[in-house]
Amino acid sequence: MCRLLSWFLALSVALSAGEEHICTYSTSFHMTTADCSGRMFKHVPTTLSSDIKALSATYNRIRGLYKDSFKNYTYLKYLYLDNNMISYIENGTFDPLQQLEVVRLSHNALETVPVGILQLPKLRKLFMDSNRLNGDGGFAVAPVSETLELLSLANCHLEDLPPLGMYPKLSELNISGNELKVLSSHQLAPLCSLHLLDLRENPMLFKNPKDCECQLLATWITQMNIYYAEIPLNCSNETENHTDSKLACMPQLQEVTEMQQTCRTTIVKRKQRESELINCLLITLIVFACIYIAYLVIGTKFKNHSLTEIRLEYQHGDRNRDTSYV
Ligand SMILES: *[C@@H]1O[C@H](CO)[C@@H](O)[C@H](O)[C@H]1NC(C)=O
Ligand SMILES: *[C@@H]1O[C@H](CO)[C@@H](O)[C@H](O)[C@H]1NC(C)=O
Ligand SMILES: *[C@@H]1O[C@H](CO)[C@@H](O)[C@H](O)[C@H]1NC(C)=O
Ligand SMILES: *[C@@H]1O[C@H](CO)[C@@H](O)[C@H](O)[C@H]1NC(C)=O
Ligand SMILES: *[C@@H]1O[C@H](CO)[C@@H](O)[C@H](O)[C@H]1NC(C)=O
Ligand SMILES: *[C@@H]1O[C@H](CO)[C@@H](O)[C@H](O)[C@H]1NC(C)=O
Repeated sequence: MCRLLSWFLALSVALSAGEEHICTYSTSFHMTTADCSGRMFKHVPTTLSSDIKALSATYNRIRGLYKDSFKNYTYLKYLYLDNNMISYIENGTFDPLQQLEVVRLSHNALETVPVGILQLPKLRKLFMDSNRLNGDGGFAVAPVSETLELLSLANCHLEDLPPLGMYPKLSELNISGNELKVLSSHQLAPLCSLHLLDLRENPMLFKNPKDCECQLLATWITQMNIYYAEIPLNCSNETENHTDSKLACMPQLQEVTEMQQTCRTTIVKRKQRESELINCLLITLIVFACIYIAYLVIGTKFKNHSLTEIRLEYQHGDRNRDTSYV
């Protein structure tokens, strides 16, 4: 009887203690991870330990993310929210997460990429696959991310590649499983660092291989040395007008080559600017160090000088006093 009572007591304590007891923690390489996966949560648990660096809340029933959802988790680097029902993300939700590097929002119900995510200063990987993105997917107003390395927009019902703008570090783009009709090298040209492009399962893409766009993209892919997942672009050697496509598409080919060169010089210039900045900082530092050392040297000299002066004055004053007493 007594045992039963204590068991009930323990159970009620466990229930009232709240969410943090349901999630499990693990630590490896000085990184604490909270695992809250598959627990039927309707909201992101907010009472977890505030020093977690990774939070996994996949396979829950979360429908929205709000300004307070992550307020206490300012050290988070990895956030996994795959397989929920997220359709709403409040402005400012990601503001506390300035350390965030990897975000997984795969298999949700989002229509746009949350602008706040692309603003994060350390973001490297963003998985948005298996959402139903609408129109431009929010990219038209998205800020340029200087740090993003991987973007997955696979299975997002895209008919057009969103306007991706300048992502100088983006090296992996996954746009497989969409309904893309065209993909032009002009759309991809701002992505200077692209190395992997997954275009598989876009059945509408290049239905007409006698198209200059096909030739251009194929040329761009070869010139940029891009590894693209398996499907060879099946461009025809001849255009619709039964002329040699190499000749017919020549002017546009030239353009793409130029864009690519512009793109590369942009990166070179950026690197130059960075090294210039570092040099500038170094010089400033050295100048300040010199000024400081000079200050120290002159300061001690001045101090010695003024000390002897005081001593002299004192002796002088003494002598004056002596004489006045006489
Ligand atoms: C957030 O963290 C602070 C300090 O670590 C703590 O006092 C506070 O209770 C936490 N808030 C929540 C909702 O857990
Ligand atoms: C959210 O932010 C965007 C862009 O900053 C702005 O256009 C929009 O009006 C904001 N929405 C709300 C509800 O504040
Ligand atoms: C692209 O995304 C799909 C769907 O998530 C995945 O199956 C595929 O492996 C990805 N491609 C690459 C190259 O990672
Ligand atoms: C490429 O072209 C060949 C010959 O025209 C055709 O048999 C093949 O199915 C095409 N492949 C694709 C992926 O369209
Ligand atoms: C297209 O060009 C390639 C190499 O230039 C050649 O091997 C291939 O036979 C050509 N195909 C057609 C259909 O002309
Ligand atoms: C094919 O011919 C038509 C009419 O002569 C012309 O308008 C079109 O630009 C040509 N297409 C190409 C790719 O040369």
